Amino acid sequence: MTTTTSVLSPVYPLGTRVNERGRLDIGGCDAVELVREFGTPVYVVAEDDLRARARAFVEALAARHGDYDVLFASKAFPCTAVYRLLAEEGLACDVASGGELFLALRGGFDPARIYFHGNAKSAGEVREAIQAGVGHIVIDSLHDLERVERVAAEMGRRQEVLLRITPGVAGDTHHAISTGQADSKFGFAPVDARAAIERLADTTHLDLVGLHFHIGSQLFELEPFRAAVRTLAALGDFPVYNVGGGVGVAYLASDRPPAVADYVDTIVAAVHSELGPDKRLLLEPGRALVANSAVTLYTVQTVKRNVSTWVAVDGGMSDNLRPMLYGSRYEALVADRPAAAADERCKLAGKHCESGDVLVRDVWLAAPAPGDVIATPVTGAYGYSLANNYNGVPRPPVLFCRDGAARVVVRRESYEDLAARDL
Ligand code: LLP
Repeated sequence: MTTTTSVLSPVYPLGTRVNERGRLDIGGCDAVELVREFGTPVYVVAEDDLRARARAFVEALAARHGDYDVLFASKAFPCTAVYRLLAEEGLACDVASGGELFLALRGGFDPARIYFHGNAKSAGEVREAIQAGVGHIVIDSLHDLERVERVAAEMGRRQEVLLRITPGVAGDTHHAISTGQADSKFGFAPVDARAAIERLADTTHLDLVGLHFHIGSQLFELEPFRAAVRTLAALGDFPVYNVGGGVGVAYLASDRPPAVADYVDTIVAAVHSELGPDKRLLLEPGRALVANSAVTLYTVQTVKRNVSTWVAVDGGMSDNLRPMLYGSRYEALVADRPAAAADERCKLAGKHCESGDVLVRDVWLAAPAPGDVIATPVTGAYGYSLANNYNGVPRPPVLFCRDGAARVVVRRESYEDLAARDL
């Protein structure tokens, strides 16, 4: 049977199709065969898709602005292979902890193009960052400023810094991932930023080169970005502006996020009119780079029909916490027969010991039965990074698929790994 790709939702990675055997095919690899070989749950990344998304950001910015960098907000998918791929694609990197810094360096990022964030950096992390030679540390509060200054002084180093501004702009997103509002744990309100800017003018070890904001994540509206850029203009004239990440993606076929080109267009236009055309402009996308590049595969363990049809798989809140933390919605299909009529209304449940462990609350599936492979798309962002060992469930491997070849870039956790730190 040959089927067209049109039966698939557009949220799947580029090149995903229903193959000649009538099965889901990602990066040229048959999903059911992948499961036979590598087991489930498993995160499957379509490598070409990930590269294409990185290129789209760089090209969109390069076409509109001279002096720029695209930073991978690495909290979205912090594994060595993803760092390495995005470093190869020429991106710079944002890290928010000593651990992410370690991984970014290991993944091959030039320290000079690493930006170190955090609202509660420890002195140890600041030391690690300066020692590694990170290009910029983003200052988040007065205490942070004092700590970074003290550490730089102790080390006899001079460090370039940006100041994080909380512009008082709230985008329309889940409250847990909104960061631009005045009452935020992140950054300086514009009135407080002035004091920090003055304070930084007096320090010998820190060099304030610019401002940063990140107003939130999974944003569909562009106006908040424009408004946030406007608030920076009143704070002085700097050579560098980092406007954060936050542009949303489609989790469902019906989602309508802005196109990357429109997002970049809006940012660049706002920066040119409010701040000037000659600034160094930094974008910091996480989700929009990696989310749609990956699909998680599970195996159905049980199907229970009571008030609802409960399709329970061998993963859940240990590999994708997002539905539980933010009420995030996902699509799902039976990878053995994606083109078959999905005519049973189901709840896709995880294996964990709580009722809240439901991956998809309302999904139509094609006659789900034990042993079927279930695919949930758009799990490339904040799935791997929020994974955990609840109920002693080992964390899944990560596969990179390309041109029909699959390689394991993160192996599955073992039971021994679960006890590896126990003394
Ligand atoms: N820059 C900074 C300073 C950030 O804190 C973040 C995300 C980003 C950039 C990238 O934002 P993005 O482009 O990915 O929206 N775990 C949540 C998302 C938390 C976002 C944290 N900061 C989720 O799964 O929705």
